[in-house]
Amino acid sequence: MAGRLQGKIALISGGATGMGGAASRLFAAEGAKVGIVDRNVEAGRAAVADIQNAGGTAVFSEADVAKSADVTRAVAEVNAALGAINVLFNHAGTIIIKPFLETSEEEWDWLMDVNVKSMFLMTKAVLPQMIAGGGGSIVCTSSISGIVSTPLEVAYSTTKGACQMFARAIAVDFRDKGIRCNAVCPGFVRTPHGLREVKELAALGIDTSDAALAASQGRICEPEEVARAALFLASDEASFINGTHLFVDNGFTAV
Ligand SMILES: NC(=O)c1ccc[n+]([C@@H]2O[C@H](COP(=O)([O-])OP(=O)(O)OC[C@H]3O[C@@H](n4cnc5c(N)ncnc54)[C@H](O)[C@@H]3O)[C@@H](O)[C@H]2O)c1
Repeated sequence: MAGRLQGKIALISGGATGMGGAASRLFAAEGAKVGIVDRNVEAGRAAVADIQNAGGTAVFSEADVAKSADVTRAVAEVNAALGAINVLFNHAGTIIIKPFLETSEEEWDWLMDVNVKSMFLMTKAVLPQMIAGGGGSIVCTSSISGIVSTPLEVAYSTTKGACQMFARAIAVDFRDKGIRCNAVCPGFVRTPHGLREVKELAALGIDTSDAALAASQGRICEPEEVARAALFLASDEASFINGTHLFVDNGFTAV
């Protein structure tokens, strides 16, 4: 049976670990040729090896996705190895947890660059080839933090709100070119990012106990559960879904 991404060439930023790592493996298992772009070389190469061992096709390109020259080179490397990209998962991102009044201008700029400018750079590099190929699908990782705020996360929440709006705005501008662009918005997920967030919030006095997590979203989310949502949005099954936000949070934001 053909996979749900058969014939697709997918680029996944932040595709080495966490939800991105789960998506790299799942997209490849569903037939996509996968280009992983990440700053974590060891984990990126390990993901490629896993995919190849399972019979799939993947390449890794090292990049800091906040840097224009890195993005240009990484996209060119994926193109040279796999061909023109028609699925883009803008997933790379990180977090700063600290009181707003202690947040420096440098930290603010850095987080905006990694979480938001990266989507601008990646999408700008990939869109022309999607358009030339007759269309494509873009999935951007936002968060529950795009619409609800956790204490000590002003900078982070601001970036994630921007990621949601970026997805909507691209959807409107490029609908007539056959491009779909959607956001996936996870709750707390068992990834290096998510586990660090829980630990750092707890150290600063915010209740992130199992009981608190159970009250807000039942349990911690597994990376594969978000990867499956991203797969749906990336695939042709979501052919009329454009500019939406898919919350993967077990009702966290429904309360
Ligand atoms: N884990 C959560 O609870 C949670 C919830 C909602 C949203 N998110 C979002 O998920 C993303 C974090 O990913 P994750 O939770 O799968 O965990 P993760 O930290 O394991 O994965 C992030 C990946 O992005 C890469 N990355 C980070 N900055 C980069 C950069 N500048 N250049 C290239 N690669 C970079 C990392 O190396 C890593 O492989 C962020 O966008 C975050 O906002 C996470």
